[in-house]
Amino acid sequence: MNAILSSDTSMNGAWDLSAWSREHLDRVEQALSRWVGLDAPAGLGDAMRYAVLDGGKRLRPLLVMAAYGAALSAADRSLSPEQRAGANDAALRAACAVELIHAYSLVHDDMPCMDNDVLRRGKPTVHVKFGEAQALLAGDALQAFAFELLTPDCENISPLVQATLCRQLAHAAGSAGMAGGQAIDLASVGLALTEDQLRQMHRLKTGALLEGSVLMGATCAGVQPQARAALQAYGATVGLAFQVVDDILDVIADSATLGKTAGKDAACDKPTYVSLLGLEPAQAYAKSLLAQAHAALASSGLPDTRALAGLADMVVSRSH
Ligand code: IPE
Ligand code: IPE
Ligand code: MG
Ligand code: MG
Ligand code: MG
Repeated sequence: MNAILSSDTSMNGAWDLSAWSREHLDRVEQALSRWVGLDAPAGLGDAMRYAVLDGGKRLRPLLVMAAYGAALSAADRSLSPEQRAGANDAALRAACAVELIHAYSLVHDDMPCMDNDVLRRGKPTVHVKFGEAQALLAGDALQAFAFELLTPDCENISPLVQATLCRQLAHAAGSAGMAGGQAIDLASVGLALTEDQLRQMHRLKTGALLEGSVLMGATCAGVQPQARAALQAYGATVGLAFQVVDDILDVIADSATLGKTAGKDAACDKPTYVSLLGLEPAQAYAKSLLAQAHAALASSGLPDTRALAGLADMVVSRSH
């Protein structure tokens, strides 16, 4: 069976998210290690590799792979072996590209001009280890490399798919997505946002890249409009839930578990779902978003959405 679609990965035949994730992450980790920063001069490659390798939950690559598998599971997705190989290659590249954008966003998010954090993924942040200028450049180079990865000089991925992936990633990362949300975040320190304003900030700074991950996975498989709309709704909802839970964990978890400094949001007077609603209502809101995400999957018409369902559960129940 194709690796992307295999799902009976546990010994007893029951579907197992950890086994599914391990199988896909092995390929993503190997590809990132093979591709990132190898020829970069003057120490830049070391900073790039430090930012990307050996750490992180890799949720965004998993969302790409899960959406890809779900879209491929549709009955009308019968691809020739060559088309299948090209689609698999595109999905692996998309999974790595979104993780590069995410890693770059973390490098910049931690810098003194933004959140001024010294700990990330259990290690000193990139600017602490390599200096601010190198951290800035590592972020720049990771962003550029993400788009290079999506546009390989080969014929097995169609130009239309390559261009669509670039557009989806650029939209998710730019002023209508992550960068725009980060600007709202910085402009909102010390302010009491309304719930609508806070939701918009979270949708952009974090949700857009998760939604983009899902859309990119679907693009690699080719997807029908009904399924695409349902997957987009799923991605947007899980993306918002992810940042609501990030706000909650900042309050209830410790730095050792998180691998980043806990309690920073309150210390920096950032508006969060916990500061706006209180802890328990924020937890209840995350659960209601999870229910919405499952409802979106149910409306997709796709026969196998188990990985997407499992990832949504993981986003809301995670401890770090
Ligand atoms: C942290 O993202 C930044 C946010 C968008 C909240 P993750 O919690 O996915 O970070 P890693 O990749 O696992 O380190
Ligand atoms: C970060 O949000 C979102 C990004 C785009 C990186 P946070 O600032 O809350 O993320 P953490 O808590 O530092 O990981
Ligand atoms: Mg931040
Ligand atoms: Mg931060
Ligand atoms: Mg946070």
